[in-house]
Amino acid sequence: MKARFAASRLAEQFEAAGIPDAAFEAELLVRAAAGISRSAYFAGASLDDEALRRLDELAARRLRREPAAYLIGKREFYGREFVVTPATLIPRPETELLVECVLEAAEERSVPPTVVDVGTGCGCIAVTVALERPFLRVVATDISPAAASVAWENARRHGARVDIVVGDLLSPVRTADIVAANLPYIPTEELRQLEPELREWEPWVAFDGGPSGTDLIERLLGECVARRVSFAAVEVGYGQAARVRRCAERLGASTETRTDLAGIERVVVARWA
Ligand SMILES: C[S@@+](CC[C@H](N)C(=O)[O-])C[C@H]1O[C@@H](n2cnc3c(N)ncnc32)[C@H](O)[C@@H]1O
Repeated sequence: MKARFAASRLAEQFEAAGIPDAAFEAELLVRAAAGISRSAYFAGASLDDEALRRLDELAARRLRREPAAYLIGKREFYGREFVVTPATLIPRPETELLVECVLEAAEERSVPPTVVDVGTGCGCIAVTVALERPFLRVVATDISPAAASVAWENARRHGARVDIVVGDLLSPVRTADIVAANLPYIPTEELRQLEPELREWEPWVAFDGGPSGTDLIERLLGECVARRVSFAAVEVGYGQAARVRRCAERLGASTETRTDLAGIERVVVARWA
């Protein structure tokens, strides 16, 4: 069967099941089942019996709402592929904004700073920063040992120099100049309302931001002051930027907000003189 035909049939099934981005996801799974590139797919590649069997298996799992990134074991971030497992959040495109903030902040310094990515997950932020600016010292922390080992694997695959340590927020780190963090920010009460892909498959430790949603972020900002961090960029959820800015300002920082491509206030930047 032609790969494109298989994908259009699968897309119909996905659409009927309410799976978002049905056509894109169907193509992704067909290419993964057949082990073909995008260009081979468009050039008219076919699926043999073994590939069709694999596709049936992948489709059944996707219809049970297992995220496509876990099915194929990878996700692209900042133009590179990262291994992801159910122990790690699947990187979201809006998080690339955090990388941009860190690169800009590093540019402003005459002495190469130590950058710490707190709550690194699969390591996408830390590994990207280390590859984009190899002269920086980059450290990544996560409270989940399973996530940290995926981050380690991604650093190894990309040949990135990143020190990866397990622990709570900045506690495993001795010095930090620039902090970047995409910590959990969903209020605990709202976790049950998440869509099934997130609620049932992605790790709750990646989402649970405590009663207010910003508990961990605010605690991190306090740790930044205690460790004399001069710059922090933290990702926030919809409607949280003002509260996080107020918290950073109470802690003596000057702040600004960066907006993502959807026009949502997504990153709060805090600077301490
Ligand atoms: C929203 S995920 C972000 C993962 C990755 N940085 C990304 O952007 O794809 C949050 C991460 O923070 C970690 N985490 C949760 N609580 C933490 C804590 N107290 N200290 C350090 N990491 C924590 C979780 O294990 C998870 O990997």
